[in-house]
Amino acid sequence: MNINRAEFLTSNTDVTKLPEANKAEYAFIGRSNVGKSSLINAITRRKGLAKTSQKPGKTQLINHFIINDEWYLVDLPGYGFAQTSKKNRASWEKFIREYLTRRENLQCVFVLIDSRHEPQKIDLDFCYWLGEQGIPFLLLFTKADKHSMVKSDQNIAKFRKALKTWFEEVPPHILTSSETKLGCEQVLETIDDINKN
Ligand code: GTP
Ligand code: MG
Repeated sequence: MNINRAEFLTSNTDVTKLPEANKAEYAFIGRSNVGKSSLINAITRRKGLAKTSQKPGKTQLINHFIINDEWYLVDLPGYGFAQTSKKNRASWEKFIREYLTRRENLQCVFVLIDSRHEPQKIDLDFCYWLGEQGIPFLLLFTKADKHSMVKSDQNIAKFRKALKTWFEEVPPHILTSSETKLGCEQVLETIDDINKN
């Protein structure tokens, strides 16, 4: 898929004030610092579209982008940010879970997982919760450029195995890197396929 236009639309915490739910929507979610905003920039080939930072906790709001005037791409705040207050964490839980369960045009959630790490409980729990809610999701393993393919493959296999205890069919995954653009075309093809159906 060619990206002809990619524009920032709105930032929100109020689920009732989101852009009209009249276009297919795809959301990026995962731990703080896993690379959500960077991957949004990589797949759209727009460097500064989503704000990134070395410090976790950069994205705090529900950010809507409109792509090719056709579909919405959404950058969400990360979970598992240790330095945030309990109150902040509770509020994350509330508005993100509300967004994910109530947004009727949401086609698929992309759960980003750091390919350098062994399976983390917080990511597995989040996938389990999505499954329980019946929210369709795919797995995007990030930062592949930071270590060997072999290590990524091992961590991916472990993650998929852990999910197998809960899911009859574990959703597909894509290994990505915002640096080398690995997997970016595949992410766009996946979105294109869903848009066409
Ligand atoms: P929050 O908004 O805080 O939840 O973080 P995020 O998941 O949006 O992460 P962000 O895209 O801001 O990236 C965090 C850090 O990881 C930044 O320093 C990025 O440059 C770096 N980073 C993200 N993706 C990659 C990647 O594929 N390769 C490498 N080498 N670094 C990456
Ligand atoms: Mg971010």
